[in-house]
Amino acid sequence: MQLNNYIGGKWQDAGEANYVPVTNPANGEELAQVRLSTTDDVNLAVAAAKEAQKKWALVPAPKRADYLYEIGRIMKEKKEHLAQVLTKEMGKVIEEGRGEVQEGIDMAFYMAGEGRRLFGQTTPSELADKFAMSVRAPIGVVGLITPWNFPVAIATWKSFPAIVSGNTFLWKPATLTPMMAYEMAKIFEQAELPAGVANIVFGSGSTVGTAMIEHPDVKVISFTGSTQTGRSVAELGGRHLKKVSLEMGGKNAVIVMDDADMGLAVEGILWSAFGTAGQRCTACSRVIVHKDVKEELETRLLEAMEHLTIGDGMDESVKIGPVINKQALEKIQSYVQIGKDDGATLLAGGEILSEGELSQGNYYAPTLFTNVARDSRIAQEEIFGPVVSLIEVSSLDEAIEVNNSVAFGLSSSIYSRDVNTVFKAQRDLDTGIVYINAGTTGAEIHLPFGGTKGTGNGHRDSGVAALDVYTEWKSIYVDFSGKLQRAQIDNL
Ligand code: UN1
Repeated sequence: MQLNNYIGGKWQDAGEANYVPVTNPANGEELAQVRLSTTDDVNLAVAAAKEAQKKWALVPAPKRADYLYEIGRIMKEKKEHLAQVLTKEMGKVIEEGRGEVQEGIDMAFYMAGEGRRLFGQTTPSELADKFAMSVRAPIGVVGLITPWNFPVAIATWKSFPAIVSGNTFLWKPATLTPMMAYEMAKIFEQAELPAGVANIVFGSGSTVGTAMIEHPDVKVISFTGSTQTGRSVAELGGRHLKKVSLEMGGKNAVIVMDDADMGLAVEGILWSAFGTAGQRCTACSRVIVHKDVKEELETRLLEAMEHLTIGDGMDESVKIGPVINKQALEKIQSYVQIGKDDGATLLAGGEILSEGELSQGNYYAPTLFTNVARDSRIAQEEIFGPVVSLIEVSSLDEAIEVNNSVAFGLSSSIYSRDVNTVFKAQRDLDTGIVYINAGTTGAEIHLPFGGTKGTGNGHRDSGVAALDVYTEWKSIYVDFSGKLQRAQIDNL
């Protein structure tokens, strides 16, 4: 199967295009060939999006929302098929594949509801017989750049608010996981979304991403990916005065206090650290544990880790699937070596798994380090794999300080049964998302998603906050007095 761009409501011909294979990380099987688009392809897509946007902006928002209701309905109907495609191209276990598709369905219906809200403000005027209000106006053509770890959910976080707000878009999915974008294009087509509202351009960040950012008619760039790439996106976008919304790395911690429900903490850590093979920007990669319960936590984690089944995520009994590719395996392995060299104690895992069928895919053993120094590289840098580091502390203050000592600020969590402890923690943990008595993953779509410091640049995906990325505020004053009234002067 060849994946070609969807531009202006049409599938582009193969022409002279170059392609690269898309492979299943569970077994190396080739799934498709994806197009490596050129700057000309981007220009075509921007032109189609720009043309379509003029009309789209004038469609009443509740009517725009009707398309989202239909898209959500189709996604629901195709949920199992979509989840299977997702698991095959990305590797996450099928239960998580279904969960991710559900996140997209939820976002469709949630943002469709915004079609009848898109609230602005009405305010009094300081002058008599004058009316004042603000409205959210569409911005124009927006560019979406999405990562491979959530090939569909993150795209819905960005494209659905863009659609309901009256923008049109170009979406560049990750080259490693383009099949969900192809599936979504088919759904946009089936939902009869007007031609040019949604445009999908496959290809590399260096060519397609750069061309999108540099194109004068693309007004907003919304990016999720690594901090390193996000920085380049922001630099280039800044030069072109683009509005750039960034969602980047994390080094998320679960804090386990001495009064925690230990069984619950173990379950939460396992799910957040090893779910999606640790490849979530919200994944737990540090556990900050009170010294009085450290040994108990280590023992219980090790025991629970023995039950983690690893393999092809299409097998319902498997808990942990492969990582995305060989480079990811090498990166994880090199961090494990760094951990060992830095004097951390390896309690479990720490190796590439290649026995039997596992040799066909990219599998890494769930890995647990303890006695990790808070400032060591494995405790500071994003590994993006199933590796978790235990760091010992003696107090809540110290736990919060360690949590906040990293360059990222996406998610954090604390397990404690003391109401004062958890309220202090939720105030002082410097992350965009805080969980009490739950792991670091599992954000719901109706609240803002994003983080502080190296995780973001002040924007948010999800929730009403996402609308701020895709709309421009317009303040409107209506003077019905029939005479010149001067603000700040005549009302004194
Ligand atoms: C991501 O890892 O980039 O909160 C997104 C979560 C999911 C989304 C993760 N709902 O873990």
